[in-house]
Amino acid sequence: MNVNDLFGTPEPGERERMGPCAFVLRGFALPYVDALLPAIAGIEARSPFRHMVTPGGFTMSVALTNCGELGWITNRRGYSYSDLDPDNGQPWPVMPEVFARLAREAALAAGFNGFVPDACLVNRYEPGSRLSLHQDKNERDFSAPIVSVSLGMTATFLFGGNERTDKASKVALYHGDVAVWGGEDRLRYHGVMPLKGAPHPLLGNQRINFTFRKAA
Ligand code: SIN
Ligand code: FE2
Repeated sequence: MNVNDLFGTPEPGERERMGPCAFVLRGFALPYVDALLPAIAGIEARSPFRHMVTPGGFTMSVALTNCGELGWITNRRGYSYSDLDPDNGQPWPVMPEVFARLAREAALAAGFNGFVPDACLVNRYEPGSRLSLHQDKNERDFSAPIVSVSLGMTATFLFGGNERTDKASKVALYHGDVAVWGGEDRLRYHGVMPLKGAPHPLLGNQRINFTFRKAA
């Protein structure tokens, strides 16, 4: 059972601890939403969402794009960061100022000062889309945290341990929530259960997540 089933939907402004250096900042992105949505549309216009193939040959159920100096990609050769969008050979769209500001402020609220991301992976989930347990470890140095913003439909986030087989806790992530993990929690396994439930009033039948990283 999820803790939210017992205590109801969390209040914006709450900071929930997932680990010693891992938090969910409830509703932290809500004041940014009006600026984020047109910025996402601008990114999508230049580098559309697409379903990439994993090294194992599976097509991801999550569609992705990127903005910033570097973008996370996957193909049959592996996972990596690229400065070019492989679909059009162009640099990824510039990271909008509002994205960078949100990432910096959220990191600070979780105890990480001076976070300057150079990569932002934008994921789009539709009902049924899922992300299996993984570590974010393609970045060059792990001293910077991961900052992950949720918009749209509610997701069940899985936050595990440092081993794939460690038990994962389930955390409901709502529209406007920001999860931050770094320090000793930086390499925790995490994933997302198949998306289900009610459409979101603003975004309809989808969830948009963006994760900021310091990749280079
Ligand atoms: C990710 O791990 O890249 C995304 C996590 C999420 O969608 O909440
Ligand atoms: Fe991840």
